[in-house]
Amino acid sequence: MKILEITGGQKLSGTIRISGAKNSAVALIPAAILADTETTICNIPEITDTDNLCSILSHLGVSTKRASESIIIDSSNMKNEEIGEEFSKKLRASYYFMGALLGKYKKAVMYFPGGCSIGARPIDLHLKGFEALGAKIKIDANKYTVEAEKLVGCPIYLDIASVGATINIMLAAVKAEGKTTIDNAAKEPEIVNVATFLNNMGAHITGAGTSTIKIEGVTHLHGCFHEVIPDRIEAGTYTIIGALCGENLKIDNIIPEHLESLISKLQEIGTKLEIGSDYIKISKNEKYKPTNIKTATYPGFPTDLQQPFSILLTQCNGKSKIEETIWENRFMHIPYLCQMGADITVKNQTATFIGPTKLKGKEVVATDLRAGASLVAASLIAEGTTMITNVEHILRGYENIVEKLTKVGAKIKSREI
Ligand code: UD1
Repeated sequence: MKILEITGGQKLSGTIRISGAKNSAVALIPAAILADTETTICNIPEITDTDNLCSILSHLGVSTKRASESIIIDSSNMKNEEIGEEFSKKLRASYYFMGALLGKYKKAVMYFPGGCSIGARPIDLHLKGFEALGAKIKIDANKYTVEAEKLVGCPIYLDIASVGATINIMLAAVKAEGKTTIDNAAKEPEIVNVATFLNNMGAHITGAGTSTIKIEGVTHLHGCFHEVIPDRIEAGTYTIIGALCGENLKIDNIIPEHLESLISKLQEIGTKLEIGSDYIKISKNEKYKPTNIKTATYPGFPTDLQQPFSILLTQCNGKSKIEETIWENRFMHIPYLCQMGADITVKNQTATFIGPTKLKGKEVVATDLRAGASLVAASLIAEGTTMITNVEHILRGYENIVEKLTKVGAKIKSREI
């Protein structure tokens, strides 16, 4: 088992370069199989989620070549095999193979996806979308068979603006006959990144980034070159760390517009920020004002940054609140923060913070990816040493976290026990 040992109290300065977005890359890799020829995707983060998707590609007979931050995917010898549970359960985004295989072969057989236990995480909206396009769905325990004689474009309304369902329906609909409209689509930047990739392959998608996406089906998609956008959640996490213990810490290679809701909350509590065209420079303030946060779909405050931001709220003067509206189970890091000295109570989907409180190093568990990242942030300002177990969750989503933090002055070590 891997653990992280972090000794808090260091001032962090220098530059952290942000990697490609996990939530884009995990959709772009399955999307690449829709092309009949070779695609190259650059700025792919080296995280276990992308490694696990490459294992699925190799199981399907798709060749992949990694060259530094790029991946070349060639599906010309691909076979439409069943994707077993040993592959699907490794990550949530394995479900994008359902839409991509359905779009390419009109058939996908795979098991229910895995991923962080942050809520029930149903896939009913994905399946409803596939059915609307003409697919029949058979569910046998955890095994899903999704099959269509032909896929025909149609209007689809999503009851919830789901990121996964929006992307999965796009993947299935790009080669359907005629026009598909997705209403109440999710608007996250990762969706725009995937739609651009598909358009570069020859698809006709308009409206990505708005709540109505229109897709005109095509018969063939070809290889292309594409770039993953910077990871706004990784960028946000390090920006929050900068507000906790930074001294002119530069968060580089980012798209600041993707972080507007975070930036406005940081400004509201009194953070010192310099915002450039592709970077943010941030320093710790001596005193922070309290604030209230309610998570929402993009461009609202991202649920994925709620947990890292909670560490800042333990340092604000007075009473702050976070209301989590997307996932039922996203306060699992709070008991550990309380053990470290924070004053937080959770009732239903709202956490109330009384600050500021001094944090002390303890033994804590990363229960999920962003909970783990928030415990890293807490450890960096805690007195003494914190030991974080279940680090595998963090490595699924943060490329070279130990190296990136060490480079700016953190005392962080990873070791096997
Ligand atoms: C994606 C992100 C995740 C982020 C989340 C919300 C990826 C790989 N993961 O997850 O980091 O926290 O968006 O921004 O991109 N829902 C249903 N039925 C469905 C699908 C979703 O009820 O078929 C509900 C979910 O339970 C949740 C809400 O819709 O309450 C949003 O989920 P969704 O946007 O689909 O999240 P993911 O795509 O899984």
